[in-house]
Amino acid sequence: MQNVTVVSHPLVQHKLTIMRNKETSTAGFRRLLREISLLLGYEVTRELELTTTTIETPLQTMEAPTLEGKKLVFASVLRAGNGLLEGLLDLVPAARVAHVGLYRDHDTLEAIEYFFKAPSDLADRLVIVVDPMLATANSAIAAVEKLKQRGATNLRFLCLLAAPEGIERFTKAHPDVPIFTASIDERLNEKGYIVPGLGDAGDRMYGTK
Ligand code: PRP
Ligand code: URA
Repeated sequence: MQNVTVVSHPLVQHKLTIMRNKETSTAGFRRLLREISLLLGYEVTRELELTTTTIETPLQTMEAPTLEGKKLVFASVLRAGNGLLEGLLDLVPAARVAHVGLYRDHDTLEAIEYFFKAPSDLADRLVIVVDPMLATANSAIAAVEKLKQRGATNLRFLCLLAAPEGIERFTKAHPDVPIFTASIDERLNEKGYIVPGLGDAGDRMYGTK
């Protein structure tokens, strides 16, 4: 599928299966989300540009590769995005962070914004938007719109599960933003949940219901 990368690494798929299992505990779910974010983070940062810098090893001078440009931004869509964010910050500790507070209205499935805070110079940075679930895509579309309004031009969207309906809507709204996901599931159910899915990611992470 165009503009979508499915991260099919065996470790990702194995961990995802445990996360989907309704018997997995809150602590287990949270730990796995953090672990899987390291593997997804490896893929979503694969094409970061490198430059070189001169360093002295104990043996000689060398021109060694180093990341080019300004530090990237992880934009976490609250709440569940924070489950991916923590592992990603282990991977790129110097990254900047944006928080986009959105929740789905349970009846209309519209995304309602309640918080936004981001670095002021988004225009100069790669922005990786993170949220485990791309269902109707209302939340992802709104989050990316907001980040673009604040100047972001170079974005990627990273999730764990995506519904085909969500991918189609997101790609129409933001054709310039590539999607990275661990799985494209079958469909959305009548309540807008991804099936087979893993349930409500925020509730499973935080033990709320
Ligand atoms: C979940 C999920 C996404 C959104 C996806 O968040 O983390 O943000 O739903 O659904 P959509 O693609 O149909 O918009 P939720 O609104 O449940 O908030 P929470 O993370 O605070 O639980
Ligand atoms: N949000 C979730 O957390 N899970 C879904 O299946 C759909 C939206």
